[in-house]
Amino acid sequence: MHIVRTVQAMRHEHEQWTGSVGLVPTMGYLHKGHLSLVEHARAENEHVVVSIFINPTQFGQHEDLASYPRDIEHDLQLLSNLGVDVVFIPTVDEIYPSGFTTYVTPEGPLVEQGEGAIRPGHFRGVATVVLKLFLIVQPQRVYFGQKDAQQVVVIRRMIEDLNLPITMQTLPTIREADGLAMSSRNSYLTASERASACVLYRALSAAMAAFDLQRLTDVQAISGAARTVVDSMPNIRLEYIEIRDYSTFLPLQTLRPPALVLIAVRIGKTRLIDNFVLHTD
Ligand code: PAJ
Repeated sequence: MHIVRTVQAMRHEHEQWTGSVGLVPTMGYLHKGHLSLVEHARAENEHVVVSIFINPTQFGQHEDLASYPRDIEHDLQLLSNLGVDVVFIPTVDEIYPSGFTTYVTPEGPLVEQGEGAIRPGHFRGVATVVLKLFLIVQPQRVYFGQKDAQQVVVIRRMIEDLNLPITMQTLPTIREADGLAMSSRNSYLTASERASACVLYRALSAAMAAFDLQRLTDVQAISGAARTVVDSMPNIRLEYIEIRDYSTFLPLQTLRPPALVLIAVRIGKTRLIDNFVLHTD
């Protein structure tokens, strides 16, 4: 497994390769959610690149860029068991050299709503770094997690809008035993916050049950079922529960599957997001 820190060295690796390249972009502090993307990339490509880069442009001014968890040694240990060819770990200067000017700015409802409303500029940072990673690594296939549902829709749109010759694979959310979606940010939680954090899963399950078992299609009633669960927890601040179309991400009044139920909460200082995909059966 080669550790590569510059764009030039990454290009050099690529020049030696003939078969297909799979890329898994990450910000590190890897967990089983990330590793499942790597395993899929390994199974489907001759060469696998995992990038680890805490991308400053996708963090808001008052967000957790400085405290974002990192442990490169442990990350490399995890990846070395999975047959990864290259771990690309650029510096901030390598990706954003002085004078950097050209950003990818997705526009419209897709990035003004949901996470985009609460984190202005977030998807501009994501789209910019992801396009750069695509151009530097030149993968045929890229792997993203359903955990970040809106990110998936934004990147899928970018691939289509810019005619990128890339296939995107979206893989299911990997969860802890109590249903909490794995996330690098879970490490911020205190023991008691961690115990409460399964409320996201319980709220999403209540929405799913309202749809599946009670056959409700009124989004107010479905999101109301989820809201009741969150409201029962005094230490959780609900940011949103929303129901949106799976592929357009537009809000729905009447649920037509496949749809997304999305939730964002604050537990103490930690912000967590999660979602379920609602299918017909
Ligand atoms: P990061 O949060 O490190 O996540 C990297 C990838 O892992 C994303 O595609 C994310 O959706 C996926 N992932 C995270 N938790 C998961 C889980 N529990 N199950 C399955 N997949 C999971 O997302 C980012 O980094 C950044 O925005 C990035 C795309 C790297 C751009 O900077």
